[in-house]
Amino acid sequence: MEEIDKKKLPCHIAIIMDGNGRWAKSRNLPRPAGHRKGIEALQNVIEAAGEIGVEFLTLFGFSSENWNRPKDEVSELMRLLRSYLRSQTAELHKNNIRLRVIGDRKAFDKDIVVLIDNAERLTSENTGLNLVMALNYGGRQDILHAANLLADHAWREKRKLTEDEVNALLPQFLMTAGIPDPELMIRTSGEQRISNFLLWPCAYTEFVFTDTLWPDFSRKDIDDAIAEFNKRDRRFGRIKTSQAQ
Ligand code: FPP
Repeated sequence: MEEIDKKKLPCHIAIIMDGNGRWAKSRNLPRPAGHRKGIEALQNVIEAAGEIGVEFLTLFGFSSENWNRPKDEVSELMRLLRSYLRSQTAELHKNNIRLRVIGDRKAFDKDIVVLIDNAERLTSENTGLNLVMALNYGGRQDILHAANLLADHAWREKRKLTEDEVNALLPQFLMTAGIPDPELMIRTSGEQRISNFLLWPCAYTEFVFTDTLWPDFSRKDIDDAIAEFNKRDRRFGRIKTSQAQ
């Protein structure tokens, strides 16, 4: 296992949890079995992030495109989400975790919306890990939604906004407002794309791709990803001081 540098921890890790279906298929199990195992991995990674001392952890639980999956699979994912929120909200609170959900929750069944609202309210004063669940989230939808809010704002002000105002306001209108940009993004299962996840916040994020399927994702995988992050030379478009003439 690679050593992680505790002094250079990413303050925010985002994860695209991929490969539940393939995990199940490789065991001749139905896809929902992969999602059920995926929930266990999700619980383990939340615990690990807290132990490591990461401040923010964002998990892509359900994308705005996931509605296009077969009806039975969507129902199973909803069932899992409902049961996760019902059984784990008190546990998150006990562990001083603050839960925040980004995405368009209105599309979920009313009882799920209530569970989300209650979990956010209950944990809102917690000071430990900030857990962000992206549910019915899409990066483009988020930017479009922010652009619409910006247009409303200009309309209420009855004037054209300056470029500086747009620069300052747009990030505040995103669902991710108040959450620092992810420093590290992990995608499991060997796929190497962003899939409409945090498009705006990932401008300078370091990506680590692992072949591990999400249900098999363990403490070792998160440590390895952080160790890889520690080796990256983050320049944010600049050059190294030593290269400047
Ligand atoms: C991708 O696997 C996984 C998802 C659809 C999202 C992650 C879901 C979970 C961890 C379980 C349910 C959790 C919640 C909060 C609803 P895939 O089905 O795309 O796998 P494949 O690419 O191998 O088919």
